[in-house]
Amino acid sequence: MDEFEWFVNAFRALTGIDLSHYKRPQMERRLTSLRDRRGYSDFPSYVQAMRGKPELLDELLDRMTINVSEFFRNPERWKDLQAVVQGMGQSIQAWSAACSTGEEPYSLAILLAEMNVRATILATDIDLRVLDKARRGEYVQTQLREVDDRLRHRYFHQQGSGYRVRDEIRQVVQFRQHNLLSDPYPTDLDLIICRNVLIYFTEETKQQLVRRFAASLRPGGVLFVGSTEQLLGLSLSGLRPSKPFIYVKAEAGE
Ligand SMILES: C[S@@+](CC[C@H](N)C(=O)[O-])C[C@H]1O[C@@H](n2cnc3c(N)ncnc32)[C@H](O)[C@@H]1O
Repeated sequence: MDEFEWFVNAFRALTGIDLSHYKRPQMERRLTSLRDRRGYSDFPSYVQAMRGKPELLDELLDRMTINVSEFFRNPERWKDLQAVVQGMGQSIQAWSAACSTGEEPYSLAILLAEMNVRATILATDIDLRVLDKARRGEYVQTQLREVDDRLRHRYFHQQGSGYRVRDEIRQVVQFRQHNLLSDPYPTDLDLIICRNVLIYFTEETKQQLVRRFAASLRPGGVLFVGSTEQLLGLSLSGLRPSKPFIYVKAEAGE
């Protein structure tokens, strides 16, 4: 076992998070550079220090999860999603998996409100701190750069130099902690959005997650992934590509 593998085991024991599912080179680079910056030359001494200084562990957790998000990230893809959702009926059960600070589930809630579709949106992430921020629903201007003026007035309150999502949208979204690698998945969903997290996982893990997403969708349900995450080369477990980065689960007999 090399030292990073030792660290992966120690980290699993400390946090329950299994880093062996994440692509190693990026993860190792990110965590080693933080360790070095904090003045520890090896992982055992770093982990030893973490046991006495929880802030070191918090910081490491922060570093392993990349939380960047924004409203309507890759707007063309959201237009495609709108076209696909159009035919799905008047009420939608959705899951925004790995939702980070909430921009993604709130974007979905806004999109569906604009279409007069009733929505229940479960939004989950492994990281409790991003979920706190998501529940507050407060954002700086740059995170809203893809939101046009009409939507901004309709669905946000201005608050100082920033914005807060209006209650009618916040009420539609329920935030909860969830680890995609180890927690049970919700079922019977019309729509799953899981964007910009699959890229961090190994191919094998990505395949398992896609299989689990497919099982969570009802027939005809939709999986929307990130703009660098086409599921090329994966066995799609009954999902068929509909538009770029959007997959639909086959209906019975299809
Ligand atoms: C780059 S953000 C993506 C945010 C949003 N989906 C978007 O595309 O704008 C990646 C998120 O994945 C979360 N994450 C990483 N590993 C996870 C896991 N095992 N289970 C659930 N969420 C995870 C991180 O905490 C982070 O908030």
